[in-house]
Amino acid sequence: MTLSKRLEMVATLVDESARVIDVGCDHAYLDIYLTLNNNNKCLATDININALNIAINNIKKYNLENKIETKLTDGLKGIKVDSSDNIVICGMGAHTIIDILNTNKLSDTLIISSNNNIDILRKEVVKLGFYIDSEIFIIDKNKPYVIIKFKRGFKKYKKIDYIFGPILKDNKEYKKYMYEKCNKILNNISKDKIILRLKYKYLLHKIKK
Ligand SMILES: C[S@@+](CC[C@H](N)C(=O)[O-])C[C@H]1O[C@@H](n2cnc3c(N)ncnc32)[C@H](O)[C@@H]1O
Repeated sequence: MTLSKRLEMVATLVDESARVIDVGCDHAYLDIYLTLNNNNKCLATDININALNIAINNIKKYNLENKIETKLTDGLKGIKVDSSDNIVICGMGAHTIIDILNTNKLSDTLIISSNNNIDILRKEVVKLGFYIDSEIFIIDKNKPYVIIKFKRGFKKYKKIDYIFGPILKDNKEYKKYMYEKCNKILNNISKDKIILRLKYKYLLHKIKK
């Protein structure tokens, strides 16, 4: 089982031997990989019956029916979560992820990668009583991804930490990516939008520092 570079990075953040709840498993590649390589006990869930049926077929192909559970559900609905579980939610929008996290008791470890609004995601998950334990930035097939491991607990963050990531703000490759992104946005903001332009100039200044 070979994974995409992105899912491989997600796998590196999963605790060995932990029970994993993979919300939005799609084809269950991550669950199969973790079962075979990281001694995890996975519950692969999806809201979409077609995706889950493909997951079930893939699990059968690897003879892992007795090791990987599956469930058709919306987010964490109907799932009994233990504090020691690793909840993995990747490949969805930040607001969908936040909604999912707000509907159930959570475990002490969350591994999350949203497609957008990473600053909002960081802030909202911290509000739920978590701190940022690890952050990974990768480019996979020309697309940038940030993967974050949250753990239950408290750390104080500044606004800028939510924007650039308390760990990634010191990552050279991520800073370069963020600088180019902010610069591109700034160049597209019309001259009369003074406050918005100032915001992006401030962000560029912060990245340079
Ligand atoms: C882009 S795929 C990502 C799959 C995999 N997690 C990954 O990162 O490669 C998003 C998956 O999330 C599922 N999904 C979207 N909203 C969901 C929800 N509220 N609860 C469970 N699954 C959901 C979709 O059906 C789809 O299979």
